[in-house]
Amino acid sequence: EPQELVDAFEARVAADEFIEPKDWMPEAYRKTLIRQISQHAHSEVVGMLPEGNWITRAPSLRRKAVLLAKVQDEGGHGLYLYCAAETLGASREEMIDALHSGRAKYSTIFNYPTLTWADIGAIGWLVDGAAIMNQVPLQRTSYGPYARAMVRVCKEESFHQRQGYEIMMVLANGTPEQREMAQDALNRWWWPSLMMFGPSDENSPNTAQSMRWRIKRDTNDELRQKFVDVTVPQAEFLGLTVPDPDLKWNAERGAYDFGAVDWEEFYAVVRGEGPVARERMLARRKAWDDNRWVREAAAAHEAKRAAKKAA
Ligand code: ACO
Repeated sequence: EPQELVDAFEARVAADEFIEPKDWMPEAYRKTLIRQISQHAHSEVVGMLPEGNWITRAPSLRRKAVLLAKVQDEGGHGLYLYCAAETLGASREEMIDALHSGRAKYSTIFNYPTLTWADIGAIGWLVDGAAIMNQVPLQRTSYGPYARAMVRVCKEESFHQRQGYEIMMVLANGTPEQREMAQDALNRWWWPSLMMFGPSDENSPNTAQSMRWRIKRDTNDELRQKFVDVTVPQAEFLGLTVPDPDLKWNAERGAYDFGAVDWEEFYAVVRGEGPVARERMLARRKAWDDNRWVREAAAAHEAKRAAKKAA
């Protein structure tokens, strides 16, 4: 790659300018972005499944309307993100095929089952809370279309987080059985939520380069620590116990010390061995096949419209 182009690109990134689709960029920067943005898109789309599972069983009309809106938002996020990846030359078909054939990754968190209604509260509070922690800095990521997509996504994620926390507040202040459900959901979702931030910095092959290119603005461990620091007081406010015996405020650091993540579990889930990974992929492939007629009808309609316009 011509050195003067590389230098000019790096200077623009260093000056916090956005890189736009038609600008020159190193091939490795383009590839990294396609990887991260498409995995992010897949996560949003697969993320519709665990919560979609509860739409028909939401405990009231209000809860059902809210959950329906939230799950639709996640679908919308997936679509903006696929569009952002398309501006880099990736094709939608290739990306979807990579997901459905098991070649592409998506967030480990969506391979855990939603067993009770309290899981919907815990997902909004913890999973969307972790997503916000990771995505707010991405509003300043160096690639313009990705950064702009994050602005709307983060506004919607904030609403998702609050609706989850509100479910948890109702349960935590409810009957003993409801409290127990809330605690059980926190017990099961806490560690998987910490895993969402990815491997520890020393084991993260992509962080150093992505930080230099300002694709990532914080490291995995920095974001994980911030998440623990804001979430622990929220658990205390609910009167629930974070399932980590090593969790302890460290006055010197002004942050919580916390126990070690089970990295073996993390890597197993990344490899596709999550508790409901198989179910998730079967559901995605079934939706893709069952709705083939919609794609075909849309394409036929567009072909007719184009032919009419040409005539
Ligand atoms: N689940 C699945 N795979 C993961 C996870 C995870 N929780 N964390 C890391 N990985 C993968 C990475 O994708 C990478 O794989 P690859 O090189 O084959 O693509 C590998 O593990 C090594 O990790 P890192 O070097 O740390 O990778 P990266 O720099 O991409 O950091 C991170 C991972 C933090 C997830 C980053 O990609 C990111 O910020 N992505 C955007 C946010 C996102 O995707 N969120 C999805 C969940 S939130 C939601 O959808 C509601």
